[in-house]
Amino acid sequence: MIKLITFSLAALLIVSCGTSKKTPAPSIIPGEAQLTAIKAKFPDATAQTLSEGYSIYTGACTNCHGQKNIFKRSEASWMHEIDDMSPKANLTAAQKDALTKYILAMKATQPSESK
Ligand code: HEC
Repeated sequence: MIKLITFSLAALLIVSCGTSKKTPAPSIIPGEAQLTAIKAKFPDATAQTLSEGYSIYTGACTNCHGQKNIFKRSEASWMHEIDDMSPKANLTAAQKDALTKYILAMKATQPSESK
């Protein structure tokens, strides 16, 4: 009986999540659009640069606090935060560069509804 109730509750939860009207948070995984956008500014940037930046952002940058919302901060504010936080995360110059390009690529392709 308990099992049946648990199962029904789980099913209900899954169904209600699926029909929720809340817009999902925009993806922060870099793809083709982000690569095109960053190459316009930095022709030397590659998919590898962006995936390294993404790994740092979701890795070393979450050692002390949760993930910050990329879209809720201006480019200028991000440049300031990256200067502040890179030493805290012990990033090398190359890692800081990859992180910067990743953030700029995400900002350049930011969905307008999350501005
Ligand atoms: C050693 C711990 C530590 C690491 C690693 C770290 N941070 Fe932070 N971060 C903090 C602390 C403490 C604060 C709040 C105080 C401050 O602003 O200095 C903060 C604040 C911030 C803020 C502004 C706070 C806000 O919500 O307004 C941002 C953005 C941020 N961090 C991004 C990053 C990024 C990006 C990285 C990776 C490069 C990173 N952090 C790595 C400790 C850390």
